[in-house]
Amino acid sequence: MTTTPGSAHLPALGTHEREEIGRQFQATLVELVDLSLVGKQLHWTVVGPLFRPLHLYLDELVASWRELSDAVAERSVAVGVFPDGQASAVSAADEDGPIEAAATTDHAVVAELVRRVAEVSERTRTRMDRLGELDLASQDVLIEVLRALEEQLWMLRSQL
Ligand SMILES: [Fe+2]
Repeated sequence: MTTTPGSAHLPALGTHEREEIGRQFQATLVELVDLSLVGKQLHWTVVGPLFRPLHLYLDELVASWRELSDAVAERSVAVGVFPDGQASAVSAADEDGPIEAAATTDHAVVAELVRRVAEVSERTRTRMDRLGELDLASQDVLIEVLRALEEQLWMLRSQL
């Protein structure tokens, strides 16, 4: 049997399953990277009475989204699918478009975050369910992602 470097000793998953798992991770990865970029943008542009707590909180959120994206990308490689977290891939998958590069009031920042985190959470839940049919170890990564996103959503919507 011929093996190529890097493809030997992959987890015992079928080719179809492996590709499907990779697609679920890729879709989640670009959304988490997008959140981290939007979060940093809002960290810079937020204005208003809640500037300081939001400015600081946004860096916490960005750190969380970056960590989660790393976990997703690395699990994808572990099952044998190389992910693409580059700007071009993130941009191609982005349906929302950019937020305005301008002063954004604190309330508008929270509303924007609630909307975006809610959308990503909803899609992550669907992908988590799908991974449950394919590979529980991969599903576990999206369970971790979803738990973090839904906790963030609770704390964000409490500020509206
Ligand atoms: Fe900063």
